[in-house]
Amino acid sequence: MITPLSSQQIRDKFVAFFTQKLASLGKPHTHVPSASLIPVNNPTVMLTPAGMLPFVPYFLGLQSPPEPPRLLSIQKCARVSGKASDLDSVGRTRGHHTLFEMLGNFSFGDYFKTEMIPWAWTFLTEDLGLPAERLLVSVFETDDEAFNIWTQQVGVPASRVVRCGEKDNFWGPPGPTGPCGPCSEIYFDFGDLDALDTPDTPDTPDAPYTPESGEINLDQPRYLEVWNLVFMEYFQDAQGHRTPLAQKNVDTGMGLERISLVLQGAKNTFETDLFLPLIHQLAQRVGVAYGQSPQTDTALKIVADHTRFLVLALADGVTPSNEGRGYIARMILRRASRFARRVLGCQTPLLAEFAERVAAHLSPAYPELMAAMPKVAPVIAREEARFNETLERGEKHLEALIDACKNAGEQTIAGEDAFKLYDTYGFPLEMTQDAVAEFGLSVDADGFAAAMAAQKTRARGARKATAMVESPVYAELSETLPETRFVGYDTLTCKTQVLALLLDGEPVDEVSGTNTPFEAVLAETPFYAESGGQVGDRGTFIRDEGHHGLTVVVEDAQKVGDLVIHKCLFDNGTSLRVGESLVAQVEPVARHAAAVHHTATHLLNAALKQVLGADVAQAGSRVAPEGARFDFTAAAALTPVQLAKVEWLMNHWIQSDPVRDVQVMPIAQAQAEGAVMMAGEKYGDSVRVVRYGLFSHELCGGTHLERLGYIGLAKIVSESAIAAGVRRIEMLAGEAALRYVRQESAELSRIADLLKAPKSALSERIEKLQDDLKLARRQTETLTASLARQQLEALLTKSGAGSGDSPETPKLLVAELSPDLPNAGDLLKLMSEAAALVMGRHYALFLALAQQDRVQFACAISESVVKARGWKAGELVKQAAQLCDGGGGGKPTLAQAGGKNASALPQAMAQIRAVLCP
Ligand code: SER
Repeated sequence: MITPLSSQQIRDKFVAFFTQKLASLGKPHTHVPSASLIPVNNPTVMLTPAGMLPFVPYFLGLQSPPEPPRLLSIQKCARVSGKASDLDSVGRTRGHHTLFEMLGNFSFGDYFKTEMIPWAWTFLTEDLGLPAERLLVSVFETDDEAFNIWTQQVGVPASRVVRCGEKDNFWGPPGPTGPCGPCSEIYFDFGDLDALDTPDTPDTPDAPYTPESGEINLDQPRYLEVWNLVFMEYFQDAQGHRTPLAQKNVDTGMGLERISLVLQGAKNTFETDLFLPLIHQLAQRVGVAYGQSPQTDTALKIVADHTRFLVLALADGVTPSNEGRGYIARMILRRASRFARRVLGCQTPLLAEFAERVAAHLSPAYPELMAAMPKVAPVIAREEARFNETLERGEKHLEALIDACKNAGEQTIAGEDAFKLYDTYGFPLEMTQDAVAEFGLSVDADGFAAAMAAQKTRARGARKATAMVESPVYAELSETLPETRFVGYDTLTCKTQVLALLLDGEPVDEVSGTNTPFEAVLAETPFYAESGGQVGDRGTFIRDEGHHGLTVVVEDAQKVGDLVIHKCLFDNGTSLRVGESLVAQVEPVARHAAAVHHTATHLLNAALKQVLGADVAQAGSRVAPEGARFDFTAAAALTPVQLAKVEWLMNHWIQSDPVRDVQVMPIAQAQAEGAVMMAGEKYGDSVRVVRYGLFSHELCGGTHLERLGYIGLAKIVSESAIAAGVRRIEMLAGEAALRYVRQESAELSRIADLLKAPKSALSERIEKLQDDLKLARRQTETLTASLARQQLEALLTKSGAGSGDSPETPKLLVAELSPDLPNAGDLLKLMSEAAALVMGRHYALFLALAQQDRVQFACAISESVVKARGWKAGELVKQAAQLCDGGGGGKPTLAQAGGKNASALPQAMAQIRAVLCP
């Protein structure tokens, strides 16, 4: 019989097990809050897929873990992209979600298999009360150690421990590279699956649960994986090579939805308390009954699951867009919207309203959601409204495609056609795949990717590609306006015409007023729009002759399709109209500083390849007037010598001062000439190649200096790890580098002044000071220790009691120290430590010290007296400290504690006296 538990009770029990129950075994865990779904500093994955992700640097030994090195978390995890995507299974299986909550515990070089396996068993069978005979486990095929622990230490019959291969029982890495290891999974056995259709099962099963002897196939639906214990002991690089990690780690993950299913006797995770109320609300809203048909049930589950994903992802800062995690959010939203409309027959938008209910249902566990919803709900509403505008037309087009495909007797929708649905109607590929699957058809996904790539890189006529899905407004603009001509490689100023103005994202004929942000599209522009890591230019628009007194500040320039969108504010002046002429001016100092950093970044790329090897690949960059950062692949940190070499090479090239050579050429020619390109980046047929001397030769659309000498100086300021195998260098160049050097030099002068030594002798001076300090500390320690002894002797003479001849008549002292004593706090501690030297063989000493509001206690009792009288130093200080609003403790022979409320000190001392000197 299983006693049902609510999902909140399960969360609480999990936390209590690792923080409290294991504390009694000396292994307390620290409970850390769920990290954001947007991985921090880990570009290898788009959304956090597992509880372990935030801790990758600890597993790899890149950073030291917190103390103690044992954590637990309840982490929001997304499984909707990459190799571990569960998208297609949602609503169609018993327990898959785009987002789920993972209960996990982690050891960084602390405990390992011998501890973890029995703990997992205890938690499931004792704390959650699952019958042992309903559980089975799997281990990695060669992991005899885990097998033996399960069978011998825990006592699971060998017939129920299944050995599985790499596909099932080796976990990780979470992205293309990272920590990984063999795992052991625990399965729940539902027994006779047919019995699941009656509500009181699986508690009263008809069928025997002990698996029949012989091969057990864990893929059968009667088994459900509930907990995965991963023994992280390897690092896997991009080529798939594994090397042992310096330490052995543990990473476990148990899906809250699944364990709730088991404990609540539900048929699937949507019928647990995590979802069922939401499913009923949704069913009522759309006017169907849950249980009415498999199709509507699946759609209800998909909409509920996807909306929960959207609420949590958007609250964490994901914004629907066309790329990366933004694309995932947009795709999930459109998929939910289409299921609601097509299968549930709901013709009006409902996701934003339903999202509010989902947030309210989640808010006891995620209180921050209520504050986030005023921002999240309008984003969902806007996205859904925009999608609905084209959904119907898209559906018609899709139906026509499906008919044509079936009539031609084909099985596959062409990639080009699926792309057209995406490009024109905003249907994500995944959604089209779903839709055609209902008719037994599939989509040529490679063809889709090829069409997308072709569209992106087509020099002309590509205007609508990205813009369309980005926003219908930009899409319309792209259709009606010509490509913005970029003239900014050759000039920083041009006279041109306003072609469009946008206020709050809507086209207007005129903007006016002050401080209102707006966007402008011009016929041609000298403003570089952000791309290739270089930030957009800043500058101004001023009105052409004849109309005085207008300045517009341009804060940024962004590319949408083939248009450059200028992000503007009025500086002075009242209005600007479409059709007006103006002069667009890039701010020259900022542009020059951006070009300095961009050009220096090319040198950094080339220098890294020379020093570390040609296979160093750029993994990202950000180039701004204020500085640059450059991410690249490298197995290990650069040594100081390598860093010095890289910086030396860059500056050597700068001093050789070659002149820039820019050529536009066919990509094949650039490749043949060995120009550096970024892996994974899509380039057009004809590319811009920027070359300096013989050493730097890159494909790039950014702005660069005419001569390398203009950089003046390049300075690396930091080098660090941002993910496994990915390093980041931060660099300053030109004026910014000089400023940095000046500041460092000024700081050094200040230190030299303080230390009264010439700059050249500073390190010697500091070493000498450190030695002096060490000596002084040692002297103080010796002096304080002897002072402690003297103090104790003096106090004993004054107020000591007891002969100290036997454990029954110990030497006793209960006293309060004077706060005026030098280092009174240290003295207190040292006096208790000196008790054995000063007080003979049988003694009990209890000291207190009050300084302002705080009190401290120290207690020392000889072992003989602990035995004879049963007094324990740890308990005595704890008792006194608790009375003074504090805590602490220690061994029976020696302990310290403190409290915040000195006014209770007399009461505390009276209690202690009552025990020690009655
Ligand atoms: N990382 C493992 C998983 O995701 C265990 O937490 O299954």
